[in-house]
Formats: sequence, C-alpha cells, structure tokens
Amino acid sequence: MAGTIKAIRGMKDILPPETGRWQLIEQVAREVFDLYGYQEMRLPLLERTELFARSIGADTDIVAKEMYTFADRHGESLTLRPEATAQVVRAVLENRLERGFWVKKYYTIGPMFRYERPQKGRYRQFHQINCEALGTDAPELDAEVIFLLVDILGRLKIEQVRLLINSLGCPECQVDFKARLSLFLAAKEGWCDDCRRRRDTNPLRVLDCKSQRCQELLRPAPMMRDCLCEACAGHYARVLELLGRAGVAFEEQPRLVRGLDYYTRTAFEVAAVGLGSQDAVAGGGRYNGLARDLGGPDLPGLGFAIGEDRLVEILPPDCGQGRQEKIFLAALGTAAREVALALLQELRQQGLAGEMDFDDRSLKAQMSLADRLGATYTVILGDQELAQGQATLRHMATGEQEQVPLPDLAPRLLKR
Ligand code: HAM
Repeated sequence: MAGTIKAIRGMKDILPPETGRWQLIEQVAREVFDLYGYQEMRLPLLERTELFARSIGADTDIVAKEMYTFADRHGESLTLRPEATAQVVRAVLENRLERGFWVKKYYTIGPMFRYERPQKGRYRQFHQINCEALGTDAPELDAEVIFLLVDILGRLKIEQVRLLINSLGCPECQVDFKARLSLFLAAKEGWCDDCRRRRDTNPLRVLDCKSQRCQELLRPAPMMRDCLCEACAGHYARVLELLGRAGVAFEEQPRLVRGLDYYTRTAFEVAAVGLGSQDAVAGGGRYNGLARDLGGPDLPGLGFAIGEDRLVEILPPDCGQGRQEKIFLAALGTAAREVALALLQELRQQGLAGEMDFDDRSLKAQMSLADRLGATYTVILGDQELAQGQATLRHMATGEQEQVPLPDLAPRLLKR
C-alpha cells in the first residue's frame, strides 16, 4: 500500500491549540489597524512574475533564487507572491485608489512563499501581516507607521525586542553610496563567493551577507548616513526626533539594508531576543519610487510586514488560549439528552460555550470528559432529575454540587 502523503518541506500545518495564538495576533492587529485608519485588502496569491521582478529587483535573493515561478496552461509566467508590498501597490494603481485627497492606508494578512532553506523561523510558506501607507513623504507618516507597529507588539505584550533603524537615502544618495562602496569592495579580497558576485551586480547586498568573515571585512566600509543628501538627512533626523519625542526606543543601525531593492529613506527592522538566527519579527521602510517603477505616478509610501510565524513563537505562553468559560452537559438517557441539547442551544444563543456527550457514556466517563475539556461547570441530567424538573449543577474546581430547577439553569449559568 502506498505510504501516507506528507506536507511539502518548509510548509507546515498550523493546528489547534496554536491557531488560538494566531487568531489573537490577527485580532489585535486588526483592532490597531482600525484605530489608525487602515482598511483591509485581500489579494491573490498569484501574480505575474514581472510584478516582483520589477519591484523587488532582479538581483535580490528573492527574485534570483527564491520565487515559486511557473508557466500556467497558456504559458504565462506566474509567481506565488513572495511578499505583499508590490501587489498592494499594483492593486492601488490598477483600481485607481491613489486618487483622492488623503493618505491611503491598507493592510493585508496572509501567506507568502519563498524557496529558502527551511530552518527554525524560516519556512517556504510563511505568513505576514502587512501594513502599507501611500500618498506622502512626510516623516510624520514614517513615525506613525512605526508607532502602529510598536502598538501591535505592545498590546501583544512582546517586550524583548529591538527596533533597528537606518536611512537608505534617495536614488541620488544611493548612486554616491554604491560608488564608494564598490571602490571599497573592489579594494579588498576575501569575500565569500556570493559577495564576489554581488560586488558587481548589487553591492548593497554585500552589507547584508550572513558570513562572519564578510561582516568583519565590512567593518571599515563606508556608511550610508555619510552619503545622505541634505533632504534625506533632514527627513531621517526628523523621523528619529519624532520617535524620540514619543518615547519609542530605537537603535540606529547604520549598516541596516533590506533584502528588497525598492526601499528609499527610512528602513527598519524589529529583532527579537530569543529567536536565534532568524530573529527579525518585522521589517519595513519607505519605497518612494515603487509606484513609478510599476508604471504609476509618483506615489511615495512606506510600510512594514510582521512575520507571524516568528511572532507566535515569542508571544507570552498564556496568550491566545481561547475561551476560558465552558459548560459540560452530562445527560443520561435519550430523554435527558434531548433536554440537554435544547439547553445547550439556549446557552449558546446567550453566548455561553458548552458541549455534551452524544454516545451514551456512563456518568463517570462523562465527568472525566468534562474534566478533560476544561469545563468550569457540569450540568448533570438524569431520569430522576428530569422527573423532578431539576438538574445537578457541579462546580468542577471545588466539587460543590446543588440542585437547580431546569428553568433557572440558563439564567444561573449566565449570571457567573
Ligand atoms: P521582509 O523583511 O522580506 O520584508 O519580510 C518581513 C518579515 O517577514 C520578516 O521580518 C520575517 O519576520 C518574515 N519572513 C520573511 N521571510 C520569512 C520566511 N522565509 N519564513 C518566516 N518568516 C519570514 C517584506 O516582505 C516587505 N514586503 C515588508 C514591507 C512592507 N516593506 C514595506 N512594506
């Protein structure tokens, strides 16, 4: 007989009770997005390959090695989205949402796909909560987007995190920086194979190399902040000032670069203590040229994505455990089960969760079931109780029991 079929490497089932933690994260994120004026977009998982090649950059790891790309039945090249920013901007432009007088604020939640080497915290299907704001280059918006991110993490009681921030400048600053960096990289030997290639194709990527040897060689490398034009330096200083005024703790990280080419000016990451090598729980920044690169008008914007798979790992253990209050109805016999079923429906209508046994188990077995399901109260309904129009109400933690007339049961339980 053929063996059972397993999930694809790097793609995992998210199962209960862990799903409760995912639901909590998303619920809190939605509440915060709502407070800041963001609306949800639900976007396709598949896009034309060209969308990502043109936005993320052909020389990035994502586009060069990590995309799930295939030809559909008509030979069109499609890609499972590796990230959402490009498609949010695509959707804004396609649906003419950029028109109007106000900043456009969207969020989107869902799976992304990258063919990376799977390890703890790194998957081939992973999940992001994405935030994107478009329509102004004002540093106040950068500050607000970061406040929003910090707000979500704070409400989820995520404390052991560092906010790392840098400015990547505008394309003009980047030309200057890339020239200086290229000279520096060319003058040194000892780079890893990847970096020797990146020196020519995309020198900024070298700054992001994970090899310790390359990081040591990079120590005296030129810094972006020394190449910022006046306008970019002013923008960056203002963002830091606004964060400082609001009491948001941050660390300037002059070597911070991002794995996607569309970033300009502000770039940031949130690193979590205790997550090992894959410690970035969120990353983002400005992308003032992205809409134009995708054929649209000048539409400055910025945003971030939270990696949900990583966030769930650092969520306090008692979070997202679901409903605490639950009733169990232990019914003995067909008539009692019928009464129990009706009573359960009444309780549920009023917002109280409950369960019952359908399989005619003994009272002892039902009590142990109630225990295992974590019921706070068990209602025992037997023939004798029914004949007297009563039920036994048992408090599971203390073992206390009392007789309650049937019509009083729902109001009694609801009062607690
Ligand atoms: P990113 O830094 O590539 O940025 O991804 C954001 C977050 O997604 C990371 O910090 C990490 O938590 C999570 N993540 C990325 N790859 C994986 C993976 N293979 N397994 C598990 N988690 C992963 C972006 O995607 C940008 N689109 C963010 C953005 C939005 N920038 C502006 N707006």
